Amino acid sequence: MKPSTIIRFIILLLFGHGEGARILAPFFLPVRSHFMMTNAIIRELVQRGHEVTFITPFSLAKENLGANYTEVLLPLYNTWADISEIMKTSSALDMVDVPKWTAMKLAQHIGLKSTDFALAQPEIQKLIHAKDKVGKYDLLLVEQFYNEGALMLGHLYQVPVISIATFAYANYFSQLFGFITPLSYVPNVFLSCTDRMTLWQRLENVVIGAKEDFHRELFYYPAQDAIIKKYFASLLPEVPRVKELERNISAIFLNSYMPLTSPRPMTFNMISVGGLHIQPPKRLPGHIQKFLDEAEHGAIYFSLGSQVRSADMPAEKLNIFLGVFARLKQRVLWKFEDDKLPNLPGNVKVEKWLPQADILAHPKVRVFIAHGGLFGMQEAVHHAVPVLGMPFYFDQNPNIKEGISAGYAIGLDYRDISEEKLELALTELLSNPKYKDNMNRASKIFRDRPLGAMDTAMYWIDYVIEHRGAPHLVAAGVNLPWYQFYLLDVVAIIKFDNDNIFGLL
Ligand SMILES: *[C@@H]1O[C@H](CO)[C@@H](O)[C@H](O)[C@H]1NC(C)=O
Ligand SMILES: *[C@@H]1O[C@H](CO)[C@@H](O)[C@H](O)[C@H]1NC(C)=O
Repeated sequence: MKPSTIIRFIILLLFGHGEGARILAPFFLPVRSHFMMTNAIIRELVQRGHEVTFITPFSLAKENLGANYTEVLLPLYNTWADISEIMKTSSALDMVDVPKWTAMKLAQHIGLKSTDFALAQPEIQKLIHAKDKVGKYDLLLVEQFYNEGALMLGHLYQVPVISIATFAYANYFSQLFGFITPLSYVPNVFLSCTDRMTLWQRLENVVIGAKEDFHRELFYYPAQDAIIKKYFASLLPEVPRVKELERNISAIFLNSYMPLTSPRPMTFNMISVGGLHIQPPKRLPGHIQKFLDEAEHGAIYFSLGSQVRSADMPAEKLNIFLGVFARLKQRVLWKFEDDKLPNLPGNVKVEKWLPQADILAHPKVRVFIAHGGLFGMQEAVHHAVPVLGMPFYFDQNPNIKEGISAGYAIGLDYRDISEEKLELALTELLSNPKYKDNMNRASKIFRDRPLGAMDTAMYWIDYVIEHRGAPHLVAAGVNLPWYQFYLLDVVAIIKFDNDNIFGLL
C-alpha cells in the first residue's frame, strides 16, 4: 500500500462513521468552472460508499461512478447568451470593461435565472411533488451562488444542509452565519485590494459593502423569494422565506485556504477546503510530455480558463503574444480554442484542451500566463508556478492582486498590453528568482494542513449527518433581528437613560 492510501485508511478508521449516507445534491448554476470543485466532492462521496443523487447541467455519466450514483441531467441554461445580451458583448474578453458593481448584479441575475429554469424542469418537479419525502435522504448539498431556491428541497425532505461556496468568500456571509466582518481589513471580493487597505480603499470597501447589503435586502431576497413562491405556494400552506431557509444551513465549505485568503473572523461552521479538486499529478499525453520534457530552458503555460477564449482575441493582440513568444528561448504551451493560428513560432504549441493541473505539476513549467480564476490560481500555488496575471472579470482581479502583493505574480492589463510590457514581465518572472522563492513559500503554506482539503470536506459531511444537522455549530447570531445583533437596543437604552444605567453599575 502507498503511504497516502494507508493514511486515508487510518483517517477512515478514526473519523469515518462507516455507513453510507443518501445525499441529494442539486446544483443549478451552469458555470463549468464551478464544477471543478463540485464534481470532485461528488466523485469522492460515491467512492466512499455514499449514495448520491446529483442534479447537474454537466453530466458525469462517462465516468461510470457505479450504482450508488444517480444523475438528474438538467438541460443547459445558456448563461452566456444572457450575459452577452445584457452587456451587448460577443466575447468574454469584453468583460474586462465591466464595472465591479455590474459584475455582481450579473452574477445575481444568472443565479436567479438558472434557479427559475431548474425548478421548472420536469425531473425537479417530480422530486418536489414526490410522495413520502421524509426519510429519503440524509443530507442536502447545494451551491452557495444565488441559487437559494435549491434550499427548498432540504425543507421538503427535512434534511440538514451543507452549502458549497465555489468562490472563496463573500461579505454577506456575516449575516448568513451570524458574525461581524471588520471592513477595515476584510476586502469585498469585488474590490481589487488585499487586507492592507489605504483610507480610500477602506472607504470604498464600506460603501460597496453597504450597497451590497442593501441590495441583497431590498432586491435580491425578494426576487429569490418570488421564485420560491412561484413553485411552492401551491404545495405548502406557508412558504418559508430564503432568510429562514438560510438559517438552517449547518455548514459551508469555502473554496479558500491560506495564503490565498487572508485571516478573518469566521464561525465554527465555515470550513476552508480550498484546493480539494487538486489530485496527485497524472502522466501527460505523450506529445505534451515530450514537448515539456525537451524544453531545455523551461516552458511557459498559457491559458485563460474555460470562459475567456484566447481564440477570440483580435489579430493585433494575438500578434503581440506571437511576437514576444518567438523571441523567447522557452517553449510555450497555449490553450487555444481554434484549429488554426497562423505564423506559429517553432517553440509554441497550441491545443484546444490541456490537462492544466498536470501541466503545472511538470518541473519544466516556469511561468503560468493566467486570467486569475480561483481554481487556476490554487493549482499554480499548489505546484509553485509563478503567475503572469491578465485578469478579466469577477474575482480575477483581486486574485492577481493577492499574488502581486505576495510577490509571486506580475499583473498585465489586457486592454493596453504591448510587446514591450509583455516581454518585460516575462523576462522578469523568468530571470528574477524572487518570484519562484515567494511562490515556493506560498505553496508550502497552502499545502500544510492538519487534514487534507478533501478529507476535511468528507469529515464535516459525515459530522453533519452524524449529528443530525449539528445545530450546535450554528451561531445564535443568525436568529437575532438586526437591531439586537448590532446591540442598537442596548445603545438606545444607554443613550436615553444613561443616568440610571450608570447608577446601576
Ligand atoms: C452504496 O451505498 C450503500 C449505502 O447507501 C452502501 O452500503 C454500499 O456499500 C454502497 N456501495 C458501494 C459499491 O459503494
Ligand atoms: C429548520 O430546521 C428545523 C429543525 O430541523 C426544522 O424544524 C425547520 O422546519 C427548518 N426550517 C426551515 C425553514 O426549513
